[in-house]
Formats: sequence, C-alpha cells, structure tokens
Amino acid sequence: MKVRPNEACARACANIALAKYWGKSDVKRNVPAVPSVSMTLDQLVTETRVRFDPSLDADRVRLDGRRASTEEAARVIAMLDRIRREARLRLRARVSSHNHFPTAAGLASSASGFAALAAAASAAAGLRLSSRKLSALARASSASAARSVYGGFVELPAGRHGDADLAARQLAPAAHWNLRLVVAQTVSGPKKVGSTEGMERSRKTSPYYRTWLEQAPKWARTIKRAIKERDLDGLGQAMEQSTLAFHCCAMTSSPPIFYWAPQTLTALDTVQGLRARGVSAWATMDAGPHVKTLCDSSDAARVRQALDRTAGVTRTWVTKPGPGVELCS
Ligand code: DP6
Repeated sequence: MKVRPNEACARACANIALAKYWGKSDVKRNVPAVPSVSMTLDQLVTETRVRFDPSLDADRVRLDGRRASTEEAARVIAMLDRIRREARLRLRARVSSHNHFPTAAGLASSASGFAALAAAASAAAGLRLSSRKLSALARASSASAARSVYGGFVELPAGRHGDADLAARQLAPAAHWNLRLVVAQTVSGPKKVGSTEGMERSRKTSPYYRTWLEQAPKWARTIKRAIKERDLDGLGQAMEQSTLAFHCCAMTSSPPIFYWAPQTLTALDTVQGLRARGVSAWATMDAGPHVKTLCDSSDAARVRQALDRTAGVTRTWVTKPGPGVELCS
C-alpha cells in the first residue's frame, strides 16, 4: 500500500536464531558460513518509512527520532544504493525507523530493521520484489535480517564465496507451532562488540572456529527436523548446543569477547532448575547478555515468573511466532 509515489512504509519483526549464524564465507557480500534456523517473533517490531525526495542532496536517516550515527547511516545508505542501482533511481531518501522494543543488546533490532528497510525502500523505489529477492537484499546488509522477511520458522542456508543471491526460506508458518519465547533482559546498555566485528574476530582467531563450522550444520538439521515434528526437547537440546558453541568461539577469540554478564549465568541456572522440575524450557543467547527461553505456551507463565524472580533480571517479555515483513500505510 503506497501512500504516495516514492514513499512506502514497512513493518518487520525481530527473530530469534534457534540454530545460530556466526561467521561469514564472504565478508564483502555478507554470506554466512553456516546455516541458521530462526523463529520470527511477534511484538518486537520495527517500522520504517522511506521517501525518495527530489529536494534532497544527501540521504537523511533517523532512528528512533534521533539522527543516525555516521556508521549506522553508512549501512542504511549502502542498502539504498543497491536499490537505486536496481531501480535506476538517482533520488536521495529520507529514512525514518522506529523500534517498538528496546534496542538493548542482543534483541536483534538489526534483523527487523534491515528487513523493514529492504521492503520499504524497494517499494518506495517502485520495485516489486519477490520475498526471495527481498530476503537476499536484506541479507546483504545483515544476514539475520534475511530471516525476518518471513514469518514463523525460517532457514537461511550457508553460502559460498560470491553467493550474491543467497536468501532465506520459510520452513513453517507461525501457526505451525504454538511456542513461546520468554525474553529476560539482564543488563542494559550498548553491545560490547557488534556481531559483525565479533564473528570476524572469531573467524580469524578462535581455535574452535573450524570445529564450529563442522558442527553447526548438524544442529541446524536437528532443529529443522524438531520443528517439523514439533519436538520441543529435541529442538531445545540442539538449540542450547548451538548457542553455547558460538559463545565458546566468541570467548576463545583474541582478544576474547564475553557477551555474557554474571546475571546471564544466574538466569541459565533458573532455566536448568525449571527443567529439573519437569518443565521443557530451553535457553539461548545472542551477541548480548539476555537470556531467551523457549517453552510451550502452557508453561510460559511459569517460566516468566521464575525468570522475574531471578536476581539480575530487569524485565521480561513473552513473545510468540510472528508474521513476516509487510507494507503499512
Ligand atoms: C548471534 O545478522 O547481526 O544474533 O550479518 O554481520 O549483520 P551481520 O550479523 P547479524 O548476526 C547475528 C548473530 C547472532 C546469531 C543469529 O541471529 O543467527
């Protein structure tokens, strides 16, 4: 739905990687070296509006009401340039993006942000891209964003050097499985090391990176099968191995990267305690200290209550499988 020519708005949800992406096979084209599997999350929404404006002599980028930093703007402009090339457009754009969730570390705002930007900017440029093309476009800016183009359960395969068209695909729609993800925020503040920089450091310096590349596809396969069969225990075990192995690569990089805080371990202990009492609850962490716990919808209240009572947990949300990217008015 276009508001006026040259203008469009899109909404995309964040996603949680059940099987983690960490490491690139092509840094320039941003191609992931391992397959990842995710669940798109409702509630954690980014809304982005783009207008190509003849009166502008440079792109203007605003994030959550403030002017984007030079670094943030550069990543946005790189995507706009790709779209302008494809649409044979010269106009500069006004971009304004809002996260309807805290941009705290590890809550994957770059995934929803670049998925929403790809959809809004391509529509504003008059391009009618397929979901596959949108996903490839989003992936070139941030690989996790390729997954947010689709709703429900999503896979982004590993790619090879030069794989410019690599895109995610949907494994199952949101209605396939009534899971819940309880997000426990532990400490706030910006990320210590961004994921792009962190994974490059792991690739170059962690002695465990090779093992990670060998093992990660196995966890992704197990997780895909578990999604198909709605096997929460099978999914949870492989998901925890995937997250621990990626954090192991980060921690053994040089210099080391500790995304965890002491509170992360305390919250992990809570999740293990729940399991010891028979609740199928499984934890995963991204490039930040927050603990995200996957469980059945019938256990969500209990899991949330346990995490709310955990020392060092400052806030919790319950999210569920959500929709893919959509244009808005
Ligand atoms: C730990 O997608 O943010 O969240 O492609 O360099 O932008 P770039 O990285 P990004 O990395 C996400 C890393 C992760 C795991 C995941 O979401 O798969």
